[in-house]
Amino acid sequence: MRKVDTSRAAKIVVVTGKSGSGKSAWTKKQISRSSRLIIWDIDDEYSGAVKGIKRITNIKELASELKKTVRGKFAFVGAVSDFDLFCRCAFAWGDCVCVVEELADVTSPGKAPPAWGQLVRRGRKYGISIYAVTQRPAESDKTIIGNASLLHVCQMQKATDRRYMAAEMDISQTEIDQLKPLEYIEKNSAGEIKRGKITF
Ligand SMILES: Nc1ncnc2c1ncn2[C@@H]1O[C@H](COP(=O)(O)OP(=O)(O)OP(=O)(O)O)[C@@H](O)[C@H]1O
Ligand SMILES: [Mg+2]
Repeated sequence: MRKVDTSRAAKIVVVTGKSGSGKSAWTKKQISRSSRLIIWDIDDEYSGAVKGIKRITNIKELASELKKTVRGKFAFVGAVSDFDLFCRCAFAWGDCVCVVEELADVTSPGKAPPAWGQLVRRGRKYGISIYAVTQRPAESDKTIIGNASLLHVCQMQKATDRRYMAAEMDISQTEIDQLKPLEYIEKNSAGEIKRGKITF
């Protein structure tokens, strides 16, 4: 039987912004110390950027690697059709950080794969932290935004996305409209707002 700990704090981070706005760069910094890490790495960029990450392209191989791994970091580079199984793998592994790059490719406002829903709604009790990264929040799964413990917004291209995130964060849209390259604004579940800029 797996251990369930209902007292664990949920950590669900939604990272949004246009292409090149600093989403992945910021995410890579956040996860740099994680010892159990699993990444849906659609652009195949994590194994070259974060030390110690093993790149895997076959979903069965991912499942068998996870089963025998206590501490390990995996970037999965596969087909969109693998996403549901990927989420099952992350849920079964537990006690990990799970990054999903470009959520809008694998979910939509009306439809999210069942295993993704399970990961978002029940992952907390199994010690799973989620980073969901997307250029297009208004076109992604809405459950994750409602459950997020941190909304991290980088510069955004589309007015629909700027309006959407401003409403979700309950801040003035001007705050998001005025973001410059590599700047961000974020709000946590305690309602605290933080502004910053990515440096390399
Ligand atoms: N290690 C680095 N050193 C210097 N600049 C970097 C580094 N990594 C990324 N950048 C630059 O920072 C910017 C943001 O890159 P990043 O990959 O975070 O964008 P992104 O928001 O994830 O975009 P996309 O949606 O296209 O994936 C880009 O201009 C990129 O060239
Ligand atoms: Mg990126």
